[in-house]
Amino acid sequence: MIYLDNGATSFPKPEAVYTFMDQFFRKNGVSPGRSGYDLSIETGNIIEDARKALTRYFNGKDPKRLVFSLNSTDALNLAIAGLLKPGDHAITTMIEHNAVLRPLYHASLYDNVAVDYVPFDGKGFVDPDDFISKFKKNTRLVVVNHGSNVIGTVQPIREIGKLCKEKGIPFLVDASQTAGKIPIDIEAMNVDVIAFTGHKSLLGPTGVGGLYVGEDVVIHHSRAGGTGVKSALRHHLEEYPYRLEYGTLNTLGIAGLYAGLKWVLEQGMDKIHAHEIKLTKKLRDGLTRIDKVITYCADDLTDHIGVLSFNVKGFEAINTGTILDGDHDIACRTGLHCAPLVHERLGTDKIGGTVRIGFGPFNTEAHVDTVLNAIKEIASMFAK
Ligand SMILES: Cc1ncc(COP(=O)(O)O)c(C=O)c1O
Repeated sequence: MIYLDNGATSFPKPEAVYTFMDQFFRKNGVSPGRSGYDLSIETGNIIEDARKALTRYFNGKDPKRLVFSLNSTDALNLAIAGLLKPGDHAITTMIEHNAVLRPLYHASLYDNVAVDYVPFDGKGFVDPDDFISKFKKNTRLVVVNHGSNVIGTVQPIREIGKLCKEKGIPFLVDASQTAGKIPIDIEAMNVDVIAFTGHKSLLGPTGVGGLYVGEDVVIHHSRAGGTGVKSALRHHLEEYPYRLEYGTLNTLGIAGLYAGLKWVLEQGMDKIHAHEIKLTKKLRDGLTRIDKVITYCADDLTDHIGVLSFNVKGFEAINTGTILDGDHDIACRTGLHCAPLVHERLGTDKIGGTVRIGFGPFNTEAHVDTVLNAIKEIASMFAK
């Protein structure tokens, strides 16, 4: 099977991740830190090392403000619920994933939060200037997707962040697709809160993600529970990381995520990214040469990750995906990819979305050749 659904989750993981998780689960499968015996402390130290490594990667100042959650959906929900209160106004974009759109929609429905959506242009980018006219007196949050999971474009985060900083509005970035793929410096990018997931380009398992919360931002509790420390307190702890962590952490997941990040850094994030972009370019060029195939927002791959959407004209995305799977053993994703407004904007909502190819570090040029041959065949048979 040729796996090209790395936009959903990366697979396979590096051997080092499997090995580290296996050893960790056998040797360190105890409650981290809290119980005070040697093994518990050792396990807690591995979790703290993971916090430190991720904090360094995001260029955060304080590893305590790196909190772990279930995934980026969970992390984004925590941030959005903890930053907005009834009557507030939020700005987001049409390039967002449902992990942002739905929490904001719920906030608008149940908490009287007003939400404005900045569109993206024909090349797949939002214009920072478009945010300016949307700022209101009660704007309390701006949320933007760093890298699109549908069309792969990387948004001008630094410029949007600069505007938010000038206005004193918290800026939350969804780095689900970019964390582990490209460098992220929250300081230089003017980001207050960043959300990440462990199972995509950080190459860890599913079930783990988190937030880095900048020092100037107050995220209120939307949950409460055990922290393993200060148990006599009736109220959930105010201090980080406990403030936004509830119950026993996914230690095995964190260990895997830590091993994944280390592997990416050892290989060189730039090298992996360059490899994925080379494959994306080869795919884009090949698809462009096939009659009656349309690619979306991929003319310029400069600010881009290795994610590409296309369609065979007149043929529903799901049918292309089914033939790729059934006849060619190629796994990819078709449909709306949890980002309905992207398709509204592209017009692909009326044709069942797009076929999405997401590259990972283990994909090869031969994989791209196989896809191109398959699409040539499908287009010659079914394109209209
Ligand atoms: C841009 C974006 N945001 C959020 C998510 C949600 O990630 P998770 O399912 O790990 O919570 C995804 C996953 O597809 C994504 O691509």
